[in-house]
Amino acid sequence: MRVEEISTWVQDARKAFASATDLDSLKTARLAHAGDKSPIALASRGLGALSPEDKASFGKVIGEAKAEIAQALADATAVLEAERDRKVLLEEVVDITLPVNRSHRGGLHPITIIKNEVSDFFIEQGFAVEEGPELESGWLNFDALNIPADHPARTMQDTFFIEPVESGMVLRTHTSPVQIRTMLTQEPPIYVVCPGRTFRADELDATHSPVFHQVEGLVIDKGITMAHLKGTLDNFARHMFGPDVTTRLRPSFFPFTEPSAEVDIFFNNRWIEWGGCGMVNPKVLATCGIDTDVYSGFAFGMGLERTLMVRHGITDMHDIVEGDLRFTRQFGVGL
Ligand code: DAH
Repeated sequence: MRVEEISTWVQDARKAFASATDLDSLKTARLAHAGDKSPIALASRGLGALSPEDKASFGKVIGEAKAEIAQALADATAVLEAERDRKVLLEEVVDITLPVNRSHRGGLHPITIIKNEVSDFFIEQGFAVEEGPELESGWLNFDALNIPADHPARTMQDTFFIEPVESGMVLRTHTSPVQIRTMLTQEPPIYVVCPGRTFRADELDATHSPVFHQVEGLVIDKGITMAHLKGTLDNFARHMFGPDVTTRLRPSFFPFTEPSAEVDIFFNNRWIEWGGCGMVNPKVLATCGIDTDVYSGFAFGMGLERTLMVRHGITDMHDIVEGDLRFTRQFGVGL
């Protein structure tokens, strides 16, 4: 081992570190000139075999050489790391002044949003969601609900009849036939809501649409009274219109409920009719094979367009049906 040799290793290492162009090539240079198998490392390990005087003098030289190599490595590392950081900053820069993609990603229609809101509210309380067909038999849409053959709602002016007329099929005029379908196929206790699309032969104007939506509620259990109906409607109204809303039941008539009532809400300082409700008519229960000595129940039904219009102060039904995104977007994306 010669001292000149050792200083060559130092110079080689310096040169190799300085010519590394990035951290990867520096690593290769480090292994060659400062790694376990580098000449300086081997020489350092060979010191033990030398005589005590040689060990002392070579030891000092090797120690200094190692320190120089380590320093050269540290310097090169610092330079290359700084270079890498500068590059990353440049490459990953985000130009916040660039124009963004403003295309709308799409969203749910406000009627779908409110329909989901209603369903979620009742699901939380243990109700199931039922949906029936939009094309319905006249028997389920009318007769089973105790709506007599001569009821005005059954005339051509109100109902869309499906050809051939002898088929007895109609576009359902309300969601109430889903009550019948549920009672015919399920044993009480029954707790369901039935949101869905309904049809009536109306012209589209500010407050009517031939295609609209309702939500129906039906509860059949032992000992169900109007108090349960009122409590359910109160909670439902508070959920839809806020905690300060008040409800009132006004005596009314529906063939499928007895007694029947209109449910009004006091909202924005005035009474507004919200929907219909009542105790399910025992005739209807009997038609569905439910023992009226054991079970009683309540039902209610309201329009979703109406609920949305009242809650958001929408004055024209056209806004809901026309699908103008300037209207729809105000309700948020809702996905
Ligand atoms: N089906 C009625 C309508 O379309 C609404 C309704 C009233 C539903 C009273 C009910 C009810 O379940 O009990 O106008």
